Amino acid sequence: MPPYLDFLPTALKNTITRLHEEKQAWINQPKKGFLRYQEPIAKLSHLRASLLDLSGDVVRIGNRADLNDAEHEQVLRLLRTFMPWRKGPFSIFGTEIDAEWQSWRKWNRLLPALPDLKDKVIADVGCNNGYYMFRMAAHAPKMVLGFEPYAQHYFTFSTLNRFAGVENLFIDLLGIEHLPLFPDCFDVIFCLGILYHRPSPIDALRELHMALKPGGCLLLESQGISGEEPVALFPEKTYAKVPGTWFVPTASCLHNWLMRSGFTDIECFCQHPMSSEEQRRTDWMLFESYQDFIDKMNPMRTIEGHPAPWRIFFKAGKTQPKSYACPLRQKS
Ligand SMILES: C[S@@+](CC[C@H](N)C(=O)[O-])C[C@H]1O[C@@H](n2cnc3c(N)ncnc32)[C@H](O)[C@@H]1O
Repeated sequence: MPPYLDFLPTALKNTITRLHEEKQAWINQPKKGFLRYQEPIAKLSHLRASLLDLSGDVVRIGNRADLNDAEHEQVLRLLRTFMPWRKGPFSIFGTEIDAEWQSWRKWNRLLPALPDLKDKVIADVGCNNGYYMFRMAAHAPKMVLGFEPYAQHYFTFSTLNRFAGVENLFIDLLGIEHLPLFPDCFDVIFCLGILYHRPSPIDALRELHMALKPGGCLLLESQGISGEEPVALFPEKTYAKVPGTWFVPTASCLHNWLMRSGFTDIECFCQHPMSSEEQRRTDWMLFESYQDFIDKMNPMRTIEGHPAPWRIFFKAGKTQPKSYACPLRQKS
């Protein structure tokens, strides 16, 4: 049984265990795409960080002085294998990793709306390399489970947390579509940067609602467009060059989606236009980035001529069931 199940009151532990074992068998295969991660990780998995600083914009794991020169060189090579680094920044045993996204900006926008995370059971759906999970860990949760189906991100987080040794952070090769296996399980769910990648956003929101404990809290962030009308853009092929983008809603559209998916106490606490200060090419992410996705002559438009992206943040709750007297059981 995966250790995170100790924290979760799901009746579907056997099904999750079977799924976990299947995913572990897949990720542990000695196949070409995985060996480039598996071999160096195996050689370096004894290394432990003497310092952990999860409270600042940079997630700091270890010092340069924790490693000898040969180890430092091997760790650097492994970290380069995990490129492209999309989320960060990190400092790993003194190697500074400037990721494509300045993820601390998103975290700082979430901070004023965060519920108390202390002793909470949390899911981070689409956790990528775990940048936000490490930031959550500074708030002393009971546990955080990252859902992340992609092998590269799984290997990256597993390696970073091997070095860091934060015992209540877990990751599994799961997607948002697996949330129905976790009914009423999480006090807080973070779903950041995922919804517009789902072909059916309402199904995704219902799955998030199902997995939240009554009284729990969803923190949702999505790409969106500006405007007052409750509408969503549905691109023909790509949006800002990204093919896996389905619905790009306005804030009022996203509000209605949340309401009709069963959420209560819905609050849009932040929305802002995207910028190339927040998402850009770096030495650790050498592909195209925000400025290549936007019309150079008109930054209000994407390269396809759509309205340029905004980011929209919501907080929403799941109501506690009301206890009421059953009308059929009246006193005689
Ligand atoms: C745009 S990134 C967002 C990452 C991070 N949550 C953030 O806000 O910076 C989308 C992430 O979702 C992951 N992902 C892809 N398919 C998924 C699925 N079916 N369920 C959950 N996450 C998925 C991707 O691998 C990637 O890490």
